[in-house]
Amino acid sequence: MRLSEARVVLTGASGGIGLAIADALCASGARVLAVSRHREVLEPLLERYPQHLAWVAADLTFLADRRKVLTAAEAIGGINLLINAAGINHFAMLEQLDDSEINAMLAVNVSAPICLTKLMLPLLKQADSAMVVNVGSTYGSIGYAGYASYCATKFALRGFSEALRRELADTRVGVLYVAPRATRTTMNSPAAQALNDALKANVDDPITVASAVIHAIAGDRRDLYLGWPERFFVRLNSLLPNLVDKGLRKQLPLIRRLSHKPDNENLKP
Ligand SMILES: NC(=O)c1ccc[n+]([C@@H]2O[C@H](COP(=O)([O-])OP(=O)(O)OC[C@H]3O[C@@H](n4cnc5c(N)ncnc54)[C@H](OP(=O)(O)O)[C@@H]3O)[C@@H](O)[C@H]2O)c1
Repeated sequence: MRLSEARVVLTGASGGIGLAIADALCASGARVLAVSRHREVLEPLLERYPQHLAWVAADLTFLADRRKVLTAAEAIGGINLLINAAGINHFAMLEQLDDSEINAMLAVNVSAPICLTKLMLPLLKQADSAMVVNVGSTYGSIGYAGYASYCATKFALRGFSEALRRELADTRVGVLYVAPRATRTTMNSPAAQALNDALKANVDDPITVASAVIHAIAGDRRDLYLGWPERFFVRLNSLLPNLVDKGLRKQLPLIRRLSHKPDNENLKP
């Protein structure tokens, strides 16, 4: 896809990765509808690219707000690129999570992108060439302790992406699944950062991730897995999961200790 001709709906635009993608797209000449609940962080970009960037306020878990996004997309004459980058995460053992936190992850990370994609497909199909980009995670291919529900959402998004790509195979709409590894954004709580530090995990800059995503879109790729050795572990996990079980078992005490919420945090009404 030629980025200068892209007309984009970008969710998660106020987040670390989304903001960097918005910046890169505008710099390439694309026209971007930035979707989020919060606007402040987008102000500098909105000022820098008044012709290229517009903001749409939406809580994607509400159908009425998703319809607002559709109306905004129609108002700019349609779109040829939908990037589903909004997402939330809670680093905690399953038993420490409230049902509301689990349901919120399922709603934002799975239901919202699926339902928004469904809503946008008629517009995307009208374009000469179009693409849906779903931002998953390395944890969409490797189940990891402390992230059981989050992993479930990203596995689901990866499955959705594969099935949708096959469903749209005889149309002009492609599907790109993106799997970043750990990235330096506020999505990672202090506890999650402490785990990354303790494990000496590679943590990418959001600008690096955005640049890779932009190149994958321009190259009409079908998937993008960021980082070595993460790519290798994804492959190893699919071929020899028992081996990965053993390796991750050793990390369990550390994960359990760092993910432990203080008691007062569990005393929510
Ligand atoms: N950071 C990482 O380590 C990492 C690694 C792999 C994959 N990822 C994935 O990359 C994507 C972007 O992550 P990030 O690190 O940039 O996260 P982030 O900085 O926490 O940003 C999250 C974005 O999601 C939006 N969002 C959350 N709930 C929403 C809702 N109900 N309605 C509409 N928008 C909502 C937020 O906007 P508002 O709050 O303004 O609504 C924000 O723009 C996510 O899908 C994440 O799972 C992240």
